[in-house]
Amino acid sequence: MSRIVIISNRLPITIKKERNELIYYPSAGGLATGLNSLDSSLDKIWIGWPGQIEQEQEQRAVQNDLKKRGLVPVFLTTEDVELYYEGFSNKVIWPHFHYFTQYTTYRDDYWEAYQSVNRKFADVVIPQLQDDDIVWVHDYQLMLLPAMIRAAFPKISIGFFLHIPFPSYEIFRILPWREEILDGLLGADQIGFHTFNYMRHFLSAAYRISGYEHNFGKLKVGNRMVNVDVFPMGIDYEKYAHPQLDDSSMTEDVKYIEALAKDRRLIISIDRLDYTKGIPQRVKAFAQFVRNHPEYHRKVSLVMIVVPSRANVDQYKELKQEVDTLAGELNSTYGSFVWTPIKYFYRSLNFRELTTLYRLADVAMITPLRDGMNLVAKEYIASKEDNKKGVLILSEMAGASNELLEAILINPQDMNEIESALVQALEMPLDEQQERLEYMQEKLKKYNVRHWANTFMNEQRKLMESQSVTRTNILNEEEQTKLVKAYKTAKKRLVVLDYDGTLMNFDPDPQAVVPDEQLVKMLTSLQNDTQNSLVVSSGRDKATLQEWLGPIGMDFAAEHGVWMKRGGNWQKPPGLTAAWKPQIRSVLENLVERTPGSFIEEKQYSIAWHYRRIDKDLGEKRVREFRDVLRYLTANLDLQVLEGNKVVEIKNAGVNKGKAILNWLNDADYDFIIAIGDDHTDEDTFRAMPDKAYTIKVGLMKTDARFNLLSVEQVRDLLEKLVA
Ligand code: UDP
Ligand code: G6P
Repeated sequence: MSRIVIISNRLPITIKKERNELIYYPSAGGLATGLNSLDSSLDKIWIGWPGQIEQEQEQRAVQNDLKKRGLVPVFLTTEDVELYYEGFSNKVIWPHFHYFTQYTTYRDDYWEAYQSVNRKFADVVIPQLQDDDIVWVHDYQLMLLPAMIRAAFPKISIGFFLHIPFPSYEIFRILPWREEILDGLLGADQIGFHTFNYMRHFLSAAYRISGYEHNFGKLKVGNRMVNVDVFPMGIDYEKYAHPQLDDSSMTEDVKYIEALAKDRRLIISIDRLDYTKGIPQRVKAFAQFVRNHPEYHRKVSLVMIVVPSRANVDQYKELKQEVDTLAGELNSTYGSFVWTPIKYFYRSLNFRELTTLYRLADVAMITPLRDGMNLVAKEYIASKEDNKKGVLILSEMAGASNELLEAILINPQDMNEIESALVQALEMPLDEQQERLEYMQEKLKKYNVRHWANTFMNEQRKLMESQSVTRTNILNEEEQTKLVKAYKTAKKRLVVLDYDGTLMNFDPDPQAVVPDEQLVKMLTSLQNDTQNSLVVSSGRDKATLQEWLGPIGMDFAAEHGVWMKRGGNWQKPPGLTAAWKPQIRSVLENLVERTPGSFIEEKQYSIAWHYRRIDKDLGEKRVREFRDVLRYLTANLDLQVLEGNKVVEIKNAGVNKGKAILNWLNDADYDFIIAIGDDHTDEDTFRAMPDKAYTIKVGLMKTDARFNLLSVEQVRDLLEKLVA
């Protein structure tokens, strides 16, 4: 079994210096509590920030102490904390990814610190790594780290999990550093999200901002595949279902909670003090409920635990004041000597206090405005394993709402809905409570935190295995050496090259893909070698090929084999007609009118509709809409419809690159043949070739070619070796 290397900003232990002593506290928040519940039998180390420890001597002591627990500290300076942690992480990414763009702070010094602290993490991580480790980077503070590790360990397995929402493309695109963030993340082999929506948003951003297309969540990034998938995080179910409590954890507070629950019905609210959690809205909704429902006065109290968090960030300070005021107002208006509507505490809880509240609460009110997952909701449900009594009111905006469908789901901004939900919860018959709880418990038991981690790791392992299978078809150094040797010793060679996507990269404007000087030079060398027959086999029209490459003197198969230039003369197969074009053209014109940005390319015996400049999804939607019309027309006219890379081309049936290349294949007895192409129209060429030919697909798509190369650059490098 490989070792797992977990990296997160915060370690599961936070060390604070109090009265000259270093005190160890468990860290709050879903990431630390969730990951800390992973199987202790796993061979793992965990690298992260242990909290602020400034003195070198103390740092050394902490380092040694943490080592015994499998933890490796990354120490941050006061400036790092201010600019990277409070700054870029919590004043840029946190608000922005939770749709609080009004709080996003655009400061270059924050961004610079984010880069340099991600580098600082990399400098601690890299010396720890071994080739067969599985690296698992966590959360929004470390989004640049996967690419940094990748640069040092090109083959190591890296996963990344985002514990917060990934916002819609329209929000993400606002960030000035959007491309760098995507590049950082895409250094991983696998990127995981809590929900399908976050994954969808990420894929859309990766495509629209960086041009990476995906196939069922898999993206090709350079010479690697990156898997993007949904892994909803679970909890350690048993820990909450049957808490292990010793007597020493029995505090006055626990006794007080138990006594209080005997006296009245309890509604609980537990979160870090964070504007994403919707705490003021919750207090207002509860106040509305108190105002409109005097029958519940004295019978119900809201116990609201607000756990201190990121107290140096302005918005958190302001929020504290707002919540204090709202809770104070409600208590002073409706409270009495015998009843406090809200019992509000700004503090954290120990495990016994937490689980006692969970167990005794009649209702949990969890109403974040946005929340990546929300583990408190899941822990509350698990804590009801034995007594089967309790109702969860849960915000639709929490990732957990995708799984906890039997909760009362509410919109956290809708006060009326929350008020009704409270009434519904307090009046819900016990058998209904039990039924809903059991449904949810069933799911949480099965999809617990171990299941989450195992699924993530297994997918990552599978991915590494499949990467190595794909890599075996790659024309590696060894095969390239063989190929070059075979080329050099051959007497009569056939070299067949596609143009776009093979010799030149794509451009939104097809007319911009003029061959560069270096390409012209290399093709000229190939052509001038008298032992070579060089053919450029392209979908492009003959005039363009003639203009761009004609002077070099090679042969052409143009327009996917409609026109052939052999020995200086253009020819075409007999029986081709263009009489059908006006009819098809009018259909395509209609398509262009409805799809601004797309355009028609008319060639002598074919016509194509290009949608490379527009949104891919819109293009594909249009293709689906028009497919039937085109199929119907083309069947009657003996035409064929070719769906290529962001292009649909209509041409005479029975003409393709494979048929065209037979003309050259039948010319001579070659002792070396090479054919390279990227498009599915090149598959006809590959299929027409004899077995011994070197057929090479550019890209990792399914192919009939013998080998793969990954990019135009790799093709050009290989061809340079042939002419060297
Ligand atoms: N929690 C804690 N200390 C407390 C109260 C709660 O550590 O005083 C834990 C709670 O059990 C849960 C986590 O903090 O596991 C909160 O995770 P959640 O996903 O609900 O929210 P986050 O804080 O990650 O936004
Ligand atoms: C959320 C984040 C975690 C973070 C936690 C506590 O759960 O996803 O990455 O650790 O909040 O926040 P803090 O800033 O104290 O680490």
